Amino acid sequence: MSEQNTFQALSAPKGVPDYVPPASATFINVRDEFARQARLAGYQHIELPVFEDTALFARGVGESTDVVSKEMYTFADRGDRSVTLRPEGTAGVMRAVIEHNLDRGYLPVKLNYYGPFFRYERPQAGRYRQLQQVGVEAIGVDDPLLDAEVIALADRCYRAVGLTGFRLELTSLGCRECRPGYREKLQAFLFDLPLDEDTRHRAEINPLRVLDDKREDVRAMTEDAPLMLDHLCDGCRAHFETVTGTLDAMGVAYVINKRMVRGLDYYTKTTFEFVHDGLGAQSGIGGGGRYDGLMAQIGGQDLSGIGFGLGVDRTVLALEAEGVTLDGVLSRVDVFGVAIGEAAQGRMALLIDELRANGISADMAYGGRGLKGAMKGADRSGAHTALVLGERELEAGEVTVKNLAAHEQRTVPLDIDEIIDAIFVPADLETSDGL
Ligand code: HAM
Repeated sequence: MSEQNTFQALSAPKGVPDYVPPASATFINVRDEFARQARLAGYQHIELPVFEDTALFARGVGESTDVVSKEMYTFADRGDRSVTLRPEGTAGVMRAVIEHNLDRGYLPVKLNYYGPFFRYERPQAGRYRQLQQVGVEAIGVDDPLLDAEVIALADRCYRAVGLTGFRLELTSLGCRECRPGYREKLQAFLFDLPLDEDTRHRAEINPLRVLDDKREDVRAMTEDAPLMLDHLCDGCRAHFETVTGTLDAMGVAYVINKRMVRGLDYYTKTTFEFVHDGLGAQSGIGGGGRYDGLMAQIGGQDLSGIGFGLGVDRTVLALEAEGVTLDGVLSRVDVFGVAIGEAAQGRMALLIDELRANGISADMAYGGRGLKGAMKGADRSGAHTALVLGERELEAGEVTVKNLAAHEQRTVPLDIDEIIDAIFVPADLETSDGL
């Protein structure tokens, strides 16, 4: 008997999700499938630090964004350096590309990353303080066909995990040629409105953000505001037309959202968001766009890039909302050992170890369970095959191989090769797709 615990149980920090089995299977399937799709399109994995110099995000993401001004996990380390848990991935990728001279080789540099990001937001359904993204960045070539590739890749990622009820919204945010003139027009329009002091201040610093104001009265006032998409220079217009034309030809559906405002400052030209209506307020399941000035901003060459970040947490929620289960890869192991009696259990432990050494996923019932309890374990494990070893079988030098799906069984000699032959299942019975 264990003693009574006198410590109070602890919870995860507020707004930080756990993914525990069985839901963790959906999480890992989504993340791995997104990464697999990125690799299929020629993106190579980059593993980045979870914390960086604070200056990277201040310069890269933009001081006027909520992400930088209100949401960063920033602290001084023991050497009194200011470091920040990464709130997003693009700035870090840029820093690493510059630091390792990846931009001095063949362009575009195509990179894929995934992992946790941290934003001190107000937690609610689908809005976490530790969030998970899979991202790609294609750096060094300003080609609208690459914009179409990145967008089509994101669309394919969602479809590959079975998501259908989402919408792709698209716009262009212009470039350093046409944006300043548009910004002035928008500011002139906004300064004529009876805005409160805070909103007027926002109009001075980041006028585009006012277009994203959720308040009814502000929305009504800005209904006729000039919009960037109607003020693009010829270059940006042609770029955007190639992007939309290519997406049309690829059969990727989208809607133009001229009022789209992204939460990060680096976007130029093509900008997009994937929205799912089954998620309530936190409907953005992914987004991205082109960023012309970012690399120069953090001290590198003046090269353009484009990328996306897909929200894994929200994709999992969206799949739940659509009732999609990813049971194709849900099985934990292929083979489960059921052994009765101490000697048989000892022998089974060795067999299971040998199966694993042969690349076959396997587990067994521990804790001296009886047949019924052990078979329950086999059931929960998702295994398609059970190996049953009792004292009588052990004495006879045999083991029973049960095909749990087909309810068939046969007895084979207690020999690893014979056992492997007997548990081989045809491809359509395989429960793992080798991700
Ligand atoms: P973002 O739009 O800030 O873009 O984030 C991308 C996705 O991450 C969102 O669409 C959402 O699904 C998910 N996400 C963001 N915040 C949270 C949160 N608090 N809780 C749960 N999920 C969240 C970026 O981060 C850019 N770095 C994407 C990019 C890459 N643009 C160009 N390259």
